[in-house]
Amino acid sequence: MKRKPLIAGNWKMNLDAASGVALAEELCSAGIDFASRDVLVAPSFTNIYPVAEAVKEGGGKIAVAAQNMYFEDSGAFTGEVSASMIKSAGASWTILGHSERRAIFGETDADINKKVKKALSEGLSVILCAGETLWEREAGAAVETVLAQVGKGLEGVKDLKNVVVAYEPVWAIGTGRTASAADAEAMHKAIRNYVAEIRSAAAAESLRILYGGSVKPENAGELLGMDNIDGALVGGASLKAAQFLGIINFDK
Ligand code: PGA
Repeated sequence: MKRKPLIAGNWKMNLDAASGVALAEELCSAGIDFASRDVLVAPSFTNIYPVAEAVKEGGGKIAVAAQNMYFEDSGAFTGEVSASMIKSAGASWTILGHSERRAIFGETDADINKKVKKALSEGLSVILCAGETLWEREAGAAVETVLAQVGKGLEGVKDLKNVVVAYEPVWAIGTGRTASAADAEAMHKAIRNYVAEIRSAAAAESLRILYGGSVKPENAGELLGMDNIDGALVGGASLKAAQFLGIINFDK
């Protein structure tokens, strides 16, 4: 059975409150067929609340995610944001382990695993990102790298029902270079087989695995048409309603 696609917009450090709200409102009134796809947007921490309010006002069908989270409950962690703060601002998801968090902010697999466990225990759903660098791909270590990130990120997590994995080759993020649909499909299949091994066939079968890295309206249909690609995590092309809708409506 094909899983319900999830199209997620990772706004990164873009859009102020007013433009985030305006974009959310445009998406809410665009006639998206929510019966056949799930849609999510991830604004910056400061804009979760106004965007979540706009989405509620617009019918409540679009989910809101944070782009990161800290694993402690509260305390002297200047600059950090907890799961309960994210929830109280109106988000029900968080992205974790994005390659920009790993590369620029030095997040380790161990940090990410703590965050994944905390988010899930607090009732947030998680998009766990994994992806190889160009160097790792050229060295023939792409699959090994990605599976290690997935395995370590999910260590101790028994129930995957609130987990989505996003495969995002680092060399394809924001570069205009996309993995070919066949290469992406091969990686997604490897991830699914691995999850079957470390958890169960049933968990692997129902796990949604998104592709991310320069997804555009022009390539979304081909990528999302692959058996093991269950959605997209979209950066740059999620910042403009027309482009993001072109991906959301990939089969229309
Ligand atoms: P991009 O970013 O679509 O701009 O390549 C994807 C991501 O980093 O999630």
